Amino acid sequence: MKKILELISEEMQQAFAAAGYDPKLGKVTVSNRPDLCEYQCNGAMAGARQYKKAPLMIASDVAKELEDSSVFSSVEAVAPGFLNCMVNPAFLKAYLQRMREEKKFGLEEAKAPQTIIIDYGGPNVAKPLHVGHLRSAIIGESVKRICRYMGHKVIGDIHLGDWGLQMGLIITELRERQPDLVYFDEDYQGEYPKEPPFTIGELEEIYPTASGKSKEDTAYKERAMEATFKLQNGVCGYRALWQHILAVSVADLKKNYDRLQVEFDLWKGESDVHDRIPGMVDYMKREGYAHLSEGALVVEVKEDTDTREIPPCMILKSDGASLYNTTDLATIMERMEEFQPDSMIYVVDKRQDLYFEQVFRCARKTRLVKEDTRLYFLGFGTMNGKDGKPFKTREGGVMRLENLLKEINEEMYKKITQNREVEEKEARETAGQVALAAVKYGDLSNQASKDYIFDVERFTSFEGDTGPYILYTIVRIKSILRKYQEQGGNLEAVRLQDITNESEKSLVMEVAKFNTMLEAAFEEIAPHKICAYIYDLSNAFNKFYHETKILAQEEEKKAGYIALLSLCLDILEVCIDLLGFEAPEKM
Ligand code: ARG
Repeated sequence: MKKILELISEEMQQAFAAAGYDPKLGKVTVSNRPDLCEYQCNGAMAGARQYKKAPLMIASDVAKELEDSSVFSSVEAVAPGFLNCMVNPAFLKAYLQRMREEKKFGLEEAKAPQTIIIDYGGPNVAKPLHVGHLRSAIIGESVKRICRYMGHKVIGDIHLGDWGLQMGLIITELRERQPDLVYFDEDYQGEYPKEPPFTIGELEEIYPTASGKSKEDTAYKERAMEATFKLQNGVCGYRALWQHILAVSVADLKKNYDRLQVEFDLWKGESDVHDRIPGMVDYMKREGYAHLSEGALVVEVKEDTDTREIPPCMILKSDGASLYNTTDLATIMERMEEFQPDSMIYVVDKRQDLYFEQVFRCARKTRLVKEDTRLYFLGFGTMNGKDGKPFKTREGGVMRLENLLKEINEEMYKKITQNREVEEKEARETAGQVALAAVKYGDLSNQASKDYIFDVERFTSFEGDTGPYILYTIVRIKSILRKYQEQGGNLEAVRLQDITNESEKSLVMEVAKFNTMLEAAFEEIAPHKICAYIYDLSNAFNKFYHETKILAQEEEKKAGYIALLSLCLDILEVCIDLLGFEAPEKM
């Protein structure tokens, strides 16, 4: 079904044509003077030169054509040549009626569904999740849901960091501590134990210790590099140990992502493409894309039009070791082979922007992707504390994701139980839901590329542009609908009625913008547009609610309001689902 702005524009274009002007001039936008009108068209001004006429005359001609319009209730030509428009309530009512009847509120799904791979999360094995990973998970999950809702085939891949030096470091530290482990016995022939020789707690302590030691002790670092080399070259004991590290770590990651309601379709990692690297390197050499530079194998990726320096993309180091680049390129190759995606979207810290520029250029130049395969870097900014510096614990350490969520949960629990009696289990559950909304909305309501300040107090507030405010609005609508049913009303039978007051019309106009908004959120890969929309929608609803005794109306009117409310609720719930959270029944 057409978007409301399309219908409005069509009506305006026809009027331009009927008055003898170029219909292209009839472009309509939402008014930037809502005190004067709802929509506006500035086409008469644009046409003045072409027709050698005063803009006001053109505007008047067009306005005359629209006197009996079914779309506009009034169109006014005002100096110097604006067309100020008010929308006909009957047209709005009919539009909403169709939104109620059609699937996905009449949203036009993709005509040719694309295959889209979203690379997000990107945690590193054996390192605890910290708030830096939070943004990738939250944004990526929402982007995935938006693309899917638009009708595309979407594959979310976590792309684990499971292959680099960090693995060698852990293995080295384990060897220091437990040199007698069977994994280090090169003559060992039997099966390796099923149980890992460490817990997740130990693992998380081992990595920072090893990393610290390697910075001070070059011999230690060399041992770690050697361990990495042995692992990557398939030494059995090292592989077996690595499997344990992976399994223990992934189990813990799954728990954390579950809590965040973030779900991946693929749990692939850098290690998965290891076997593809030699073939890819051969290909790049054979085709003349790669050459040696100071012993390293590189692909030149700079272009004449560059305004900043883009260094060559290094494929192999001089000692033959592969790099982060190499695994990313081989992953692109694998994805093209396995899924033939039209598009790959990377949700990664924006500080990796240059890196991805190199990788994308290299993938294009070496024809790992098709000419029209879209490679898109969605770089996000830093989550800062109130001091404007990257978010830390009170003690100044790196904040673990688990602890951050626990803290917000507690805060929400306190708020929920403050003024009323709630059963403990219900209170905990509700606190969990509202806390997640607070964190996710707090993040997603900012344009992804911007840094933002993680402000617990503000994010958990029930007022203002926050997740809890949105949930509160949803819960309020649910409660009205419940009361309506308790009074014997039937939600299935309600019908929209004529729009009779201002705040009702404003609410209806917000509801009608849904498809326009969602298409833009998809096209610009911008979840923050959904946040801005549901904030406006919630405000419009709450204003209407405060000015209207909904349940005290006579039957037909009441049923009409209920029909509007239930549409509004359905849209809000779809929107928060696209953002990755849900609303409780009560709060
Ligand atoms: N593991 C990486 C990091 O922590 C992020 C991975 C991003 N994805 C990718 N395909 N490189 O920085």
